[in-house]
Amino acid sequence: MTKRRNFIRQTIGLGASLPLLGSLIRQMALSHSGNGVIPTIMCSRGRGWGEKVLLPAWQKYQETGSILDAVETGSNVVELDPEDTSVGYGGLPNELGVVQLDASIMYGPTHNCGSVASLEKIKTPCSVARLVMERTDHVMLVGPGALAFAKMHGFREENLLTDRARRIWLRWKENLSSNDDYLPPEDGNYGLKKRPGGTINVLGVDANGDIAGITTTSGLFGKIPGRIGDSPIIGAGLYLDNEVGAAGGTGRGEEVIRTCASFLVIEKMRSGMTPQKACEAAIKRIIDINGGLDRVDFNDKMVAISKDGEVGCASIMGSKDGPPEACYINESGIHVKAGRYYKEWS
Ligand code: GLY
Repeated sequence: MTKRRNFIRQTIGLGASLPLLGSLIRQMALSHSGNGVIPTIMCSRGRGWGEKVLLPAWQKYQETGSILDAVETGSNVVELDPEDTSVGYGGLPNELGVVQLDASIMYGPTHNCGSVASLEKIKTPCSVARLVMERTDHVMLVGPGALAFAKMHGFREENLLTDRARRIWLRWKENLSSNDDYLPPEDGNYGLKKRPGGTINVLGVDANGDIAGITTTSGLFGKIPGRIGDSPIIGAGLYLDNEVGAAGGTGRGEEVIRTCASFLVIEKMRSGMTPQKACEAAIKRIIDINGGLDRVDFNDKMVAISKDGEVGCASIMGSKDGPPEACYINESGIHVKAGRYYKEWS
C-alpha cells in the first residue's frame, strides 16, 4: 500500500474516533495501560534536559494523547532556543557562515517517515519534516526544495545565524590558516581543535505501545556547504519499528550513516537484546569498522527505547563527567539514564 493511501486510511480512522476517545486517552497517558507498556518519552541529552525538553513534551502528550505531537513539541523547544548552538535557530553554520539544518521524523503505526536536509532559514526543521511525512508522497526534501515546501505551508523565512554563532564561526575562520588574509584580533586565538556537533533525538512510546521519534540538528560546525549528516537519513540518525522500539544517533554522522546505526539498534532489539545492549552493539560496530578504539578520534552516541518503555544509552567516549547520559519521563517523573561508554564494557 502506498504511503498516501496508508495515511488517508489512518486519518479517517482517527478523525472519527478522536472526539470520543480524547479524554480517555488523556487518562491513559497518566497510567499503565494494562498491556505492560509504560508510556515514556526520552531524549538523548542528560541531566537538566528532562525539565527543559521532556516536560513540555509530556504535557503535550497529556493534552492531545498524541505521541507524535509530544516528540515534536520537545524537539521544537531545542530548535527554537537561540542559546543551543547545535540544533535549529542559533545552530553553528557551515564553512560559509550559513546555517543548514537537518531533521527527520518517523511514526510507528504507519511506518511513515519524513525528512529535510540542508534546510536554510526555517527555525523548526522537524516540523517541516513532519509535513513531508504527512502532506507529501515523498520521504526527503533537500535545500531550496525543502525551503519552498516549508514556505508553501506558511513557515516564515528567518535569519538563523545568531550573533553568538556568527562570532564563533568568525573566530574559527580567522584561525583556520596562517596562510590566508584573515587576522584574528589579538585576544582572539579561538582555535577549535575539534569542531562541535550536537543534535538531539526525542523518542516516545504511548500507552498503546505506539512509537514516534525525531532527530534534529544543525550538523557539523564548519561543514562543507551541502554536507548532509546522519540526522535526516532514515535508518542512520533515526529509526523505529512499532513492534520493537525507536533508536537515534548523535555525534559524528558519517560513522552513523556507514553503519546504519539506528536500524542496527532496532534489529538487535528485534532479535532479543535490551535497548542498552543494542546501543552498545551499534557503538561497537562503529569502532570495529574503524579498526579499533585506537583509531577512533570522534564520538558517537546511540539511544533507544523499547516498545514497553525501557531505555538504553551508549557512546564511544565518556563525557568529562563520566558515562554518557540520556533522560526520560514517565508517570513517575523525570529520570536520568546513566549509559555506558565503550571502555566500560569492553
Ligand atoms: N550527528 C549530526 C551530524 O553529524 O550532522
